[in-house]
Amino acid sequence: MKITVLSLFPEYFEPLLRTSIIKRAKEKDLFEFETVNFREFTKEKHGHVDDTPYGGGAGMVLSCQPILDALKSVRTPRSKVILLTPQGDVFQQKMALDLSKEEHLIFLCGHYEGFDERIRDYVDLQVSIGDFVLTGGEGACMVICDAILRLIPGVIKQESSHDDSFSNGLLEYPQYTKPPVYEGKAVPEVLLSGHHANIAKYRHEQALIKTAKNRPDLLNDLDLSEQDQKVVDS
Ligand code: ADE
Repeated sequence: MKITVLSLFPEYFEPLLRTSIIKRAKEKDLFEFETVNFREFTKEKHGHVDDTPYGGGAGMVLSCQPILDALKSVRTPRSKVILLTPQGDVFQQKMALDLSKEEHLIFLCGHYEGFDERIRDYVDLQVSIGDFVLTGGEGACMVICDAILRLIPGVIKQESSHDDSFSNGLLEYPQYTKPPVYEGKAVPEVLLSGHHANIAKYRHEQALIKTAKNRPDLLNDLDLSEQDQKVVDS
């Protein structure tokens, strides 16, 4: 997997590559990562990458030329090009899993007010991380890269992502570690029993209960068994 990020602020991504799990994965060459500052591609003599909007209005609009020339310089027939925008499809775990299987992802990060609308014609996918507006696509891109990179084989233990929230359509079951009792709060007995089948059943039920309580909307997309429905209704 290779990730190329087109951004006016490549330094934004340094902490991601310098920290923790993603840093170790990078050191093991489990992925390639590059940033391209599309300002370097502008033909505007003062180095500008944006201009005033046709029709008037506040703020500036990123121009086609620098972004699309930068894109042309890195794109191959096997690249998937993603534009970060609050107008895009909302990023979810399923999308993270699909994107983690791609050979080359190119992210276009805007900054300031917005893009020239024609840029959208050159991308494969427009993605939002939620219904709010950031100062630029970089923050969104970092979130998406983190979610994708941890799904690449070898980045974390495979089992760790198996039971992730959302991977089976449910929120993750509750987890506990030592001590068995903390300030009077005890770890559920079944988790100390060593009985694997009972533990699996408990965890599945807890995932259902937690999802019904915190994110009931997720249950609408699931075809629950009669038994699971009883747990949700209880
Ligand atoms: N750029 C600005 N806001 C954004 C959002 N919510 N998601 C993706 N890109 C963005």
